[in-house]
Amino acid sequence: MATRKQLPKYTVPSLTPEEGAQVAQILQLRLHALNDLALTLKHIHWNVVGPHFIAVHEMIDPQVDAVRAMVDVIAERIATLGVAPTGTPGAIVEARTWDDYSLGRETAIAHLGALDEVYQGVITDHRKAAEDVEELDDVTNDLLIGHLHELELFHWFVRAHLESSGGELSTAGATTERGAADKATE
Ligand SMILES: [Fe+2]
Repeated sequence: MATRKQLPKYTVPSLTPEEGAQVAQILQLRLHALNDLALTLKHIHWNVVGPHFIAVHEMIDPQVDAVRAMVDVIAERIATLGVAPTGTPGAIVEARTWDDYSLGRETAIAHLGALDEVYQGVITDHRKAAEDVEELDDVTNDLLIGHLHELELFHWFVRAHLESSGGELSTAGATTERGAADKATE
């Protein structure tokens, strides 16, 4: 369903239906990514244990609220472009190019290490999407850039816990959530 090509009957002024469909397709994967991120953040909120529990538990909820707001804006932009947004769980799993978050009950630092990796992936893809729509649709580009202001700030909140006074990240060089979690807890 997620890969179905939809040509809108109408789209926003000054875009062709093909351009509207192209922008909507890029946004659809961002919708999946941020729906996934909101669920992952709640999973961390529930599974974090040990010292710093309350700091991480409480830091996460405003991030969930902000990401859920971004999800709504993306879905409504897709609809504005004349395309039906897909928000069902099965469609996320079918379309996503990343794996499920891999940590269960773990310490705050382990989750923060893994979350550094999660934000790294989401932000990289969000920046790529912003770049891909730059020539097509300024409004969608602005929307994604607006999200990046917040997402990159949240990424810093996470990384600040993993940083030494010399400015080095404990997760440097990690390529997986598990690897980042292990490095963070070393
Ligand atoms: Fe809660």
